[in-house]
This record gives sequence, C-alpha cells and structure tokens, in this order.
Amino acid sequence: MRSLLNILDLSVEEIDELIAVANDIIANPERYQEACKHKTLATLFFEPSTRTRLSFESAMLSLGGNVLGFSEASSSSSAKGESVSDTVAVVSGYADIIAMRHPKEGAPLVASMHSEVPIINAGDGGHYHPTQTLTDLLTIYHEKGSFENLTVGFCGDLKFGRTVHSLIGAMSRYNGVKFVLISPDELKLPTFIKEEFIEDKGIEYEQSRILEDVIGKLDILYMTRVQRERFFNEEEYLRLKNTYVLTADKMEEAKRDMIVMHPLPRVNEISTAVDSDPRAAYFRQARYGKFIRMALIMKLLGVKA
Ligand code: CP
Repeated sequence: MRSLLNILDLSVEEIDELIAVANDIIANPERYQEACKHKTLATLFFEPSTRTRLSFESAMLSLGGNVLGFSEASSSSSAKGESVSDTVAVVSGYADIIAMRHPKEGAPLVASMHSEVPIINAGDGGHYHPTQTLTDLLTIYHEKGSFENLTVGFCGDLKFGRTVHSLIGAMSRYNGVKFVLISPDELKLPTFIKEEFIEDKGIEYEQSRILEDVIGKLDILYMTRVQRERFFNEEEYLRLKNTYVLTADKMEEAKRDMIVMHPLPRVNEISTAVDSDPRAAYFRQARYGKFIRMALIMKLLGVKA
C-alpha cells in the first residue's frame, strides 16, 4: 500500500507516467469512466478548500467511483476532540483511499501510520501540497513542453506557501532549472527548503524583493497568496498582504512566452486585468488538477482503465 505525502515520494519516471495517463484521460475520458467502479474516496478536509477537494471528488466520480467525507473540521468528531489517528483508523474502514487536508504539518504522515488504505496529502499546514505540484507539472508540460532549462520565479509568501515548497522540490530534479525567489524579508523561503532543494543540489538561484527587477528574465512566474491563516499577528498580515500585485503594466516587462501560474485562490495579488492575457495560465492550471488526480487515484489503487 502506497501513500503520497511528499512529491518526492514519486520518482521522475512515475511523474512522467502520471502525466501520460492524465493526457490519455483528457483525450479519451470514456475509457476511464468505470476504472474505479465500486471504489470509494474519502475527502477529510480539516481546512477550507475549493479546488483540491472538489477536483478530487470530481476525479473519483469521473472514474465511476463513490465519494464521502467532510469539508470542515467542525462537522467531524474532531470538534469533540477525536485525534487524527483515530479518525483515519475509522474512515479507512469505510473507504478505499483517503485525501486529507489538515492545518498541522505532518498530520497526513501520522494518518498514514494508522490507515489501512492509501493517504494522499491534500495540503498540510505550511509544509507541502504534492497534488498541487502534480497539477503544476501537468500545466508546465502543456504550456512549456518541457521541465528543463526553465527560469522559474516564485513571488509572494514563500515562507508559508506549501505549493511553492513542493514545486521547488519537484523542479529541482530537472536539468537547467533556475529559481528566482521574490518575497519580502519576512516571507522568505524557509532554510530547510532552500538548503535541501536548492543549495545542496548546486542549483542557480537569486533572491529579490522587487518583482519588476526580475520579471523580464522569467519563463514562469508563480504568484502566491499571502497566507493569512498561518500568521500569528494580524497586523503583520495587513502590512504584507499587498506587497505584490501583478498588473497588466508589469506584464509588459515580461517575455512574450512567459506564463503566469497561481495555485489559487487569488486575493489581490493578480489584477483581474491580467486574466485576459493569453500568458495567464492559472485557470487552465486549475482545470488540469482533476485529470492528474484521476491518474493518481488509479495509480495508488492499482487499477487500470
Ligand atoms: N490550490 C488549492 O489548494 O486550492 P484550494 O485551497 O481551493 O483547494
């Protein structure tokens, strides 16, 4: 039995296989409509979500399977004090696979130790979000055609942004990748991510506080929301929340084939005027999430079309 807690649980070859299956699903959805017949996915979401939970549910329904679960901790018995390990031990008797989001870093790992079925980390605190990374990789595959020789800028909340941490880990395995880290000092990339995935691997990178200074050299600009829910101090959030706003004017300075990605939800960090720019890939990115999650569910359940 295999869980997905960290994107590095999957080899580069396995990611290539998932992308190939996702592409076949996009081309031939009817082939997959009974792949998970009689299988059940549980979505245990202790934190809010639109894309991740609904794309997981849509993925399982499109595979002919069933879904159950909860979308907030307050409607589960965790509100009465039940532990994650007890919750998962029980739910793994009702479902064949579990996707779990939790505000505490490491909660999906604890869950995997008490589960009889695969656990998928659907986001754990400010730590990792591996299925967003699979979504991001499928997007990059479609938009750029390769993962190699790309200069990727990450802008905004690099401290708490779990999608950034996972995508840096994934992209650090491809040749010729360079990173540009754009954030205020208070929201810099955590040292453990920078050392393990960038410095120890000898990957070229630079840091900047000013988006306009570096936007012209990027192949991908990955914008992020300042993660209000992770701040201890509301005043600090309010001071930092609008540090970066990508506008149509700033897009004038970018390469003609740069793409803008964002895991969404967006708050104010990308002007809606950018949405009509063909380089704005974030709504296409959200759609890819369903197909790569279909491929992942099939892989972890060991089923074929
Ligand atoms: N990208 C992402 O995780 O979005 P949700 O919080 O809506 O699931």
